[in-house]
Amino acid sequence: MEENFIPVKKSQISLFKSFPLFYFSKENEPLLYKKEGERLKDARIKTKQFPDLFIRASDRENASHALFKTMNAHLEETVFSQGIVPIRQALSTLVQEALEGPLNVSGKMLPETIEILFQGYNQNKILVKSLAKLSSSSDKLVEHSVNILSLTMQFCTFHHFYQTKTQTLGVSAILHDIGHTQLPPELHNTKTRLSDTQFKEFQTHTTKGYQTIIDCECFTPEIAMVALAHHEKLDGSGYPKGSTDISEEAQLIGLIDAYEPLAYRGTSRHTAPQKPFNSLQILKNEVIAGKYSRQMFVNFCSCLA
Ligand SMILES: [Fe+2]
Ligand SMILES: [Fe+2]
Repeated sequence: MEENFIPVKKSQISLFKSFPLFYFSKENEPLLYKKEGERLKDARIKTKQFPDLFIRASDRENASHALFKTMNAHLEETVFSQGIVPIRQALSTLVQEALEGPLNVSGKMLPETIEILFQGYNQNKILVKSLAKLSSSSDKLVEHSVNILSLTMQFCTFHHFYQTKTQTLGVSAILHDIGHTQLPPELHNTKTRLSDTQFKEFQTHTTKGYQTIIDCECFTPEIAMVALAHHEKLDGSGYPKGSTDISEEAQLIGLIDAYEPLAYRGTSRHTAPQKPFNSLQILKNEVIAGKYSRQMFVNFCSCLA
């Protein structure tokens, strides 16, 4: 039977010590580059002197588990002792693995990630405020998901949420847009407005994300509901169902999801990122129009203050 291979990111190569790595010959034959248990020399890793490397698809689940373990340990180390930039980088790698790797592994490992982050946040309040202002990934979805995670953790920490609630919200923040990974890339890369048909397809990231999380059977239903309902609005003007009965978790992630592009990336109407005060002013108009909960908005403003 022909074996399948998955590319390994050059930046993550040092994390694959326990797994054999392969490269492809000119004839497209997979050849062993490094045996299981061997480490690439540090100098090679630093200068990236190696060909494009791959792991066996059959190693993907175990490799992802090992990756998460190493990344969580790294996050723990950085969150307590280092500056904001390394933490943001560690988080970006973690979120990327959660969005691209096997979801059943994320289900086991992400609660630990959130726990580490929560502990770190409780010890370092400045970290909470600064983390979402940094950009460290060129991948828009990863960037957006890390921002949503950072703002969500800020909210949970400020309002002293219990550990279980924080974990649900933190994992939901990371996975709320996982349905995007199933959309054609042209829906993300377009600089012009989406056509009606394209926008309809874009909206399916909610139902696709929900189904992906449910199918995995390793997350609580609340997390899947956030993926489904984070674009619903309390006045029924949202999608995919136009529902007004929205879980609290989905309302919160939805509110933060509306704030994030305004404050950090700009939108089609407000092309440049707005100051936090202006972003909240814009959002306030939506609250007055009945799209978001007033109380939740007030609580969100107070955690940003
Ligand atoms: Fe979304
Ligand atoms: Fe989003």
